[in-house]
Amino acid sequence: MEKYGKLVIESISEMPSRKKLIVGNWKMNLTIHEASVYVHHLAQKVQVHRDVEVVLAPTMLALQPVSLQIERRQFKLAAQNLYWRDHGAYTGEVSASQLRGLVDYAIVGHSERRHIFHEHHKEIRSKVQAALRNNIKPILCIGETAHERASGETKDVLHDQLLGGLANVTSDEMSEVVVAYEPVWALSNGANFHDHKMPTPDDVKRAASAIRGQIKHLYGEKASEAVRVLYGGSTNASNASSFLAVDGIDGLLVGGASLNQHEFISIVESAHEVDDK
Ligand code: 13P
Repeated sequence: MEKYGKLVIESISEMPSRKKLIVGNWKMNLTIHEASVYVHHLAQKVQVHRDVEVVLAPTMLALQPVSLQIERRQFKLAAQNLYWRDHGAYTGEVSASQLRGLVDYAIVGHSERRHIFHEHHKEIRSKVQAALRNNIKPILCIGETAHERASGETKDVLHDQLLGGLANVTSDEMSEVVVAYEPVWALSNGANFHDHKMPTPDDVKRAASAIRGQIKHLYGEKASEAVRVLYGGSTNASNASSFLAVDGIDGLLVGGASLNQHEFISIVESAHEVDDK
């Protein structure tokens, strides 16, 4: 009996169980009051599903009040950014050690941080490290620009950004890291106003496979099968299922649509309904 029990436990522990993850990145939107009202509405309608983790990433100011409002079974919190040093004379910054206990996740290396605030590999890697040493799971965002895509550099860019962000991450720590593929040209942030496109599920599948391939190369097969890979870029209630169904994709990093309760609730339901891959 004991042997049988052990066998079962071993075979379960070998199965890569990747819980789906839906992250709402509110970016620099909503005041503290608006955030609180919005969370109040979401809390009434977002269903708790055992197979889906729902994470809200409000503006830094709203993290504390929202944390007092939410039920952690229903929502977890993410910071949209953090500073890599733990404390000191860094006017205007918020450190991972200050966020510790308040958030479960932190978005690191978002393309808006890379392109508007000129964050580069070294800083992004330090932020990944800061998150990990403070018990915060980094959601490392990577993705190519329209120009890089047109020049056929997508795979190289993903490779460089992964390597840049993960240098110094140990295999043990890797189990805490989430990777988000966000092609810069597909984001709804206005940067692509004249030339907005969406990747096909096949494009996303290729990117997810390149990401897992690189993680396999760096950390081995187990890590590459265990890591959660998200897609982000103009996702909404209508297209969420098609991206969630992509082989190798475990969830979505949602921007604009996460500010609309109907869209966001529907996206969470899509994650629950999507067939197990
Ligand atoms: P959109 O969903 O608005 O394109 O934003 C995606 C994103 O940047 C999430 O981090």
